[in-house]
Amino acid sequence: MAQTTVQEIHPDLYLLRVADTRTAYFEALWEIPEGITYNAYLLKTPEGAVLFDGWKGTFQEEFLAALASVTPLEDIRHIVIHHMEPDHSGSLPALLEKLPPDVTLWGHPFTKKLLDALYGLGDVNFQAVKSGHSLTFGGHTLTFYHAPWLHWPETMVTHLAEGNILLTGDIFGGYGIPEGIFDDEVDTDAYLTAARKYTITVIGFYRDKIGKNLSTLQNKYNLQPAMILPAHGLLWRQAPERIVQAYLDWGAGKPKPGKVTVVYSSMYRYVEKAVGVAMDALQQAGYTPVVHRMVDDERAALADMLNDIADSQAVILGTETYESDVFPLTAFLLSEVIKKANFPKPLLVVGIFGWAAAAGRQLSTLLEKSAFEPVNILELKGLLTPEGEAKIRAAVQDMLQHMR
Ligand code: FEO
Repeated sequence: MAQTTVQEIHPDLYLLRVADTRTAYFEALWEIPEGITYNAYLLKTPEGAVLFDGWKGTFQEEFLAALASVTPLEDIRHIVIHHMEPDHSGSLPALLEKLPPDVTLWGHPFTKKLLDALYGLGDVNFQAVKSGHSLTFGGHTLTFYHAPWLHWPETMVTHLAEGNILLTGDIFGGYGIPEGIFDDEVDTDAYLTAARKYTITVIGFYRDKIGKNLSTLQNKYNLQPAMILPAHGLLWRQAPERIVQAYLDWGAGKPKPGKVTVVYSSMYRYVEKAVGVAMDALQQAGYTPVVHRMVDDERAALADMLNDIADSQAVILGTETYESDVFPLTAFLLSEVIKKANFPKPLLVVGIFGWAAAAGRQLSTLLEKSAFEPVNILELKGLLTPEGEAKIRAAVQDMLQHMR
């Protein structure tokens, strides 16, 4: 049975959270050994209840049980859909079967099309909202704001006037299953690493929309919420401004001072030996790099590599020639970096070849699309020589000088 949490977090407002430890690869791609939560919310009023979002379909039975523990299902009069991705909407069809047909669904105009496309729910009682549209119900005022592309085009958020609370869907969400509910109950530094990983892997492709949407919410609509309630991970009430600033920094690719990430692939440890020299040079210069290995007894998680590359000041990439090309996992990693974490920073490539150098040429082509600033693409013959070692050390110094 999945671990579920039902808790009143503000008068008449309930969190409904499920801890998903079954999903090993979020979006069938991103490694999440830390798990993830799906957070729905329920507002009870004298006129009935308002539900905000739901859980992944895998947990639909648990979702109905959690809801029923707070309210008779027939009392749900409104359902607000912030985002249609099935990790939030998957439980909706099972719920709608239990509700009166006149329950009103609220969402971005595009949400109606997705209800039909994903679930065949084209004939539900749907109310499309414009940005700034308000619903007054049961003594509460709910105002909806569009936040397109965070994470899909139909994304929106809801502001509850009573309590100055913002429900944000994917926005400000994170991987992980926090021990507590709120930011004042856990080690937020550790959590923020998981939240950044979520943001880079899931939202990274739309990163330029982060600053734009947050600016609109803050400056056009004057939203400064006292509480931020995302649909994944931790809820923020002590320092909501902390997750807002972190989100802005991640969207802008702000590097962490002194952080250098080393990623390498090595079939027979020739690259590992060369990269070891680079790491020694880094350590002599006072840097402790974050290291990700793709070798024959260990493979770093793609999600972790992306996460660390995103906020590094510089990157060292060790790769070897494989079938006259870049090592396949390295090529895939780079293609994802270009899509999701393409921020300018110096890059040192340490390549090793056996027959003939080819990876460097292919890599140069790949890097043309990236924001990396390659300070050096070294291609050294298999066995490391004193001359090769000297070249690596000099290249590391060169890279450090280019860090800003
Ligand atoms: Fe949590 Fe984009 O869904």
